[in-house]
Amino acid sequence: MKLWGGRFTKPTNQLVDEYTASIQFDKKLAAYDIKGSIAHVAMLAKCEIISEDDANEITAGLKAVMEKINNGEAVLSEEHEDIHMNVEKLLIDEIGPVGGKLHTGRSRNDQVALDMRLYLRDALMDISQLVANLQEALLKQVKENKETVLPGYTHLQRAQPVLFAHHMLAYVFMLQRDVERLGGSWKRVNKSPLGAGALAGTTFAVDRQFVADELGFDGICENSLDAVSDRDFVVEFLGNAALISTHLSRLCEELVQWSSAEFNFIELDDAFCTGSSMMPQKKNPDVAELVRGKTGRVYGNLIGMLTTLKGLPLAYNKDMQEDKEGMFDTVETLKGALALFAPMMETMDVKQKNMYEAVRNDFSNATDLADYLVGKGMAFRESHAVVGEIVLHCIQKNKYLLDMTLQEIKGFSSIIEEDVFAYLTPEAVVNARNIAGGTALNRVEEQITIAETNLTET
Ligand code: ARG
Repeated sequence: MKLWGGRFTKPTNQLVDEYTASIQFDKKLAAYDIKGSIAHVAMLAKCEIISEDDANEITAGLKAVMEKINNGEAVLSEEHEDIHMNVEKLLIDEIGPVGGKLHTGRSRNDQVALDMRLYLRDALMDISQLVANLQEALLKQVKENKETVLPGYTHLQRAQPVLFAHHMLAYVFMLQRDVERLGGSWKRVNKSPLGAGALAGTTFAVDRQFVADELGFDGICENSLDAVSDRDFVVEFLGNAALISTHLSRLCEELVQWSSAEFNFIELDDAFCTGSSMMPQKKNPDVAELVRGKTGRVYGNLIGMLTTLKGLPLAYNKDMQEDKEGMFDTVETLKGALALFAPMMETMDVKQKNMYEAVRNDFSNATDLADYLVGKGMAFRESHAVVGEIVLHCIQKNKYLLDMTLQEIKGFSSIIEEDVFAYLTPEAVVNARNIAGGTALNRVEEQITIAETNLTET
């Protein structure tokens, strides 16, 4: 017999039970569901809607049910559809008809919205911490390789040299905004929907604020229809998760490129790579590839949730049961990626010499030569053209700017002096970008300080 069977004359078709049930996945919410129920019961007693004795019995029963779920003794069934009704059924089995008082003044609609918020609160905390751990790992590499220069790219063409530390710090700042976004959405997640009932509120004189306080919420959802029918807080999380994945995925792409023989800028630790079943020489950056690959499902979950919500009339609709799997999947996908990422970055070997060699053997100091000519009085547009000719000459002669003789380079402009060579070394080129946020060593040191302060403040 269904808990709601009174109005029905027939049992549900078994396929309908299977199709509409969510217990297979919403059992993940069991602990949150029971925590919410215990707070609800305490409120019912405090407001004298049920007796203290009944409340105590129900609370003890709920704890027993939790125990049985945890140790695998409890049978969770599709017949009872979802975690909420399974728990209620188990409670009634445990303590008898008094368990039937638990659902007084409550609906599964406000209950499920509550569970989702409780779950997401924990997920936000966990994920923020994991992102912070990754920032720490990146900062460790930053500090260990503070003066390492590597080519900076635009269009994946060598552009201007940058400090490796500067490059890594870019990710630290991206991740900082990610943590801030998670913190911002916390405010909107951390409100209690309980008391909204099915949609319109409840006839019982419940104390919504009391339940909110019991559960550590900052306040209550102001409008009962909104409380049970919106999942914008889930969308917000999925959107923030999508951005975190984007940032991770871009870093992954660089790790994959950098660990190729073509770049040879880094080596990932053996513990974070895998081999090939056929080719004995292979060492593949599988973790980085898979984190990049899993970005697809994280984006998919965001689009899926948005699409499910679009066009739903107020208030609750069964469609909304589709809010769970994508959210769980995103939380687990992100946690899995982040847990691996921090130690993978921490153990990464930075091939300082190869990075330096790459910078030495390219034209990424060409802008500096143009700037040098400007310093000697030439207009930038003219110096750009002169240096363009010098670069073309070097390409034809198979050499780089620093390989030229003074006489050779003077052939393009007589204002060039001996001091040009000191101007064009990788170190000089990097340190010349001495403006706030630039790649000069002292500016990178400023960024380290800012990043570390951010980390301790969030
Ligand atoms: N399993 C449902 C869900 O996840 C719980 C709410 C069901 N409410 C209802 N009126 N059928 O959305």
